[in-house]
Amino acid sequence: MSTDTVARVRQVDPAEHAFADQLAFLAAYDDGPRPPAWRPTPRAVVTFIVGSNGELVLPKGAKRAGLPGKLTIEPKFVGDRALVERCVVTLAGERGLLLVGEPGTAKSMLSELLAAAVCGSSELVVQGTAGTTEDQLRYGWNYALLLAHGPSPEALVPSPVLTAMRSGAVARIEEVTRCLPEVQDALVSILSDRRIAVPELAGTEHATVPAAPGFTVIATANLRDRGVSEMSAALKRRFNFETVGPIDPAGQGGTGPGEDAVLGGRGGGRGAGDRVPGPARRAFGGGLGRGETLDGHEHRRGRRGGQLARSGRGVLPR
Ligand SMILES: Nc1ncnc2c1ncn2[C@@H]1O[C@H](COP(=O)(O)OP(=O)(O)OP(=O)(O)O)[C@@H](O)[C@H]1O
Ligand SMILES: [Mg+2]
Repeated sequence: MSTDTVARVRQVDPAEHAFADQLAFLAAYDDGPRPPAWRPTPRAVVTFIVGSNGELVLPKGAKRAGLPGKLTIEPKFVGDRALVERCVVTLAGERGLLLVGEPGTAKSMLSELLAAAVCGSSELVVQGTAGTTEDQLRYGWNYALLLAHGPSPEALVPSPVLTAMRSGAVARIEEVTRCLPEVQDALVSILSDRRIAVPELAGTEHATVPAAPGFTVIATANLRDRGVSEMSAALKRRFNFETVGPIDPAGQGGTGPGEDAVLGGRGGGRGAGDRVPGPARRAFGGGLGRGETLDGHEHRRGRRGGQLARSGRGVLPR
């Protein structure tokens, strides 16, 4: 295998590459108004994720070279359409979105699909761990340049969040509750002030980096993890919570984990080993079929799951 081949073939293709044709088609298909910096309309983002339920025909005026005249968008996320709509409305309002749920319920997949559709990049990601530092959410320094020339915009190393702020894109924070509370709190000022102060560059035009229109954050958090840090009330208030539940075998789709998951009862947690790898998933049409489960077990949905999700109470581990 030549080095050239190795460079181009990817084991997992980011959603914006894997579904580039669909995203281009949807941007042309729906020419309605869009929030600042959004590529497709909010309605087209929902269609991209839950599928078009039939063939879409490009209007005559929207035809362009390289775009197919008709396309069927297959569902990628199996679940409640209303959940996806609420996520899209949250992002259109430039509010932070926090996806919570049991392991393997497609929180990361949904966050990747949303970011890819909204701003064309799902790659501005910070993976939350106990070792995540504030620099990874704000900025760091290139120490060689810093020592040679002192603080300068060139020596500043932007975090994925800062890059998203500059370009009006979506920043993704995976497993936010695994970060220590003081690290999580860096997000409070980012989400409320919509700027990052760089005190080292005080007195210059680079002393603050304001967020461009369109900037927002999608975070994910797991309900079953041990060793997580509770989110401060201040940070919780800056996010809209959405609970992603396991796929319901009755065909209702995952809308909430229910009391089981929240209170630690008989939930349907899945391990990493049960996941469907990307190529297999795409081979089966981009997701699991309606009513299918990954492990073949029934997952029960509680009655109050949605309510808890909306109120944000009792969702995150204490
Ligand atoms: N509702 C669903 N629709 C489509 N695919 C799903 C669904 N639930 C799970 N899957 C499949 O399971 C895989 C695992 O999902 P993902 O890694 O996004 O879960 P997660 O909620 O982020 O898990 P964790 O909390 O462990 O990080 C997905 O990539 C997808 O293939
Ligand atoms: Mg995940």
